[in-house]
Amino acid sequence: MTSDVLDSFINQATARCDLQSEPDDCVLALAPLMLDLIVHASTFLRPHHYLSSDAGYTRNLIYEAPNKALSLYALVWLPGQWTPVHDHGSWGVVGVVEGVLEERAYVRVSPDRGADKEIDLVRGGIVLLRSGSVTSFVPNPDHIHVTGVPTERPRAVSLHLYGRTMNDFNVYDVEARTRRRITVPHNES
Ligand SMILES: [Fe+2]
Repeated sequence: MTSDVLDSFINQATARCDLQSEPDDCVLALAPLMLDLIVHASTFLRPHHYLSSDAGYTRNLIYEAPNKALSLYALVWLPGQWTPVHDHGSWGVVGVVEGVLEERAYVRVSPDRGADKEIDLVRGGIVLLRSGSVTSFVPNPDHIHVTGVPTERPRAVSLHLYGRTMNDFNVYDVEARTRRRITVPHNES
């Protein structure tokens, strides 16, 4: 089930993406759309988009383009739920519709030779994104980060738009200096 607001967002995002071949231009064009979308999130988010789990943060699919070039999810973060250290291999635009989403960055300090080992990461800064905030990232170099909600804060809900269907990505073991590709589940819309 869709809505006029969501349909308009998808149509505009698709059109703007088609015009932009570079990820940085893409997020530049799409971030303002996300800023508007989250204001109207209550008009198209349905109860199944708010599904959560005590086992970890949940990824609820809202839209997937037929050609897989665009995907939109509602992510629900209960207190204390975090991602592993990861990247996306894609551009992404994130908007917060409820709560405060925390993002902790990692910076790669070893040369990227495309290998899955001998990866040295140091912790970078953090950002705290309140409801109404938008952030974005681009690949190459990948934005490596941890996202979540500390135990002392309430549930957060965020919308995530990516330049592909986000069903797999790299997770990093900082101590072991390695990364591996994992497949991640989502709830179908
Ligand atoms: Fe992420």
